[in-house]
Amino acid sequence: MSCCPIGTDVAHAAAVLRDGKLVAFATETVYGLGANALDERAVAKVFEAKDRPRFDPLILHVPSMDCIDDLVTEFPDAARQLADCFWPGPLTLVLPKSETVPDLVTAGLGTVAIRIPDHPQALDLLQQAGVPVAAPSANPFGQVSPTTAAHVAEQLGERIDYILDGGPCRVGVESTVLQMAGDTPLLLRPGGLPAEDIEAIVGPVRIPDPAAHPSAQAQPAPGMLPRHYAPRTPLTITRGPPPDTKCCGLMSLGPIEETVAARFAAVEVLSAAGDLTEAAANFFAALRRLDAASVDRIFASPFPEAGLGRAINDRLSRAAEK
Ligand code: TXA
Ligand code: MG
Repeated sequence: MSCCPIGTDVAHAAAVLRDGKLVAFATETVYGLGANALDERAVAKVFEAKDRPRFDPLILHVPSMDCIDDLVTEFPDAARQLADCFWPGPLTLVLPKSETVPDLVTAGLGTVAIRIPDHPQALDLLQQAGVPVAAPSANPFGQVSPTTAAHVAEQLGERIDYILDGGPCRVGVESTVLQMAGDTPLLLRPGGLPAEDIEAIVGPVRIPDPAAHPSAQAQPAPGMLPRHYAPRTPLTITRGPPPDTKCCGLMSLGPIEETVAARFAAVEVLSAAGDLTEAAANFFAALRRLDAASVDRIFASPFPEAGLGRAINDRLSRAAEK
């Protein structure tokens, strides 16, 4: 398979973006597949490269707060407080959109998702590009998200124009998506910024009930699809020890006893210290290794529902066989 060039030339990457082409770039969460958000033809290429349904809107990436005024009609005080505390960082704010933002970016919604990523190279790229950059995670739709340039090359290298290598992603799971367009903040996707940190600033956030929105299009965040982030190998979430594990893989938060490990063909320990932040950083790469290990099934136990554990559990439950 042929792959596009991979390098660290930020000026070149910015020129490619300005030219209406696709650049994958590192953020602190995962690699994004970027296009000039104000160029509808460039944005359409993102949907094509990923095979992403057009009803799933994209996040705009900007380098600073002063780039946002033009993109939204309102920036409520609570949203501004969160931006002051957590940007640059793994928080995406969904705000009422202005007419500047093409409907293709927001899938026709009246809101737009925006974030300032916390990665020096990404900020440099966004500055030099001089336009808001629409960027979903740089993986084919529904598959495991990339946390290194090599992951992007494997999955999308043939379909894009340049991969800007910014090293492995520090956070490892996507940003937390928070809608700030109504009365109460709505947590549309748990992610790299723990909900507890948000609540410490703006009080309780509401979590939408997926059962109240049975179809994908009717979801408050169209990307909250039940199956996502999926490896090729079936994945089962288990509380107890799985029955026959000889040809199976195991993903574990912390160290496990040797007698247990010996019962699996492959084991991934996400953090020797059992630390959820370290586990999140290793999660997608470990899932890829288990997927490549030719096992019949991957088992994982649920993670503690606190801090980054929520984001990992969210990804695991969507990766799991239904
Ligand atoms: O960390 C991240 O957020 C990464 C990096 C590259 O920034 N990006 C990312 O994008 O994860 P993506 O497209 O894989 O996920 C974006 C999520 C989707 O669930 C989408 O439905 C939701 O954000 N979203 C985008 N715009 C929205 C809007 N206007 N209203 C509600 N949800 C929105
Ligand atoms: Mg994604």
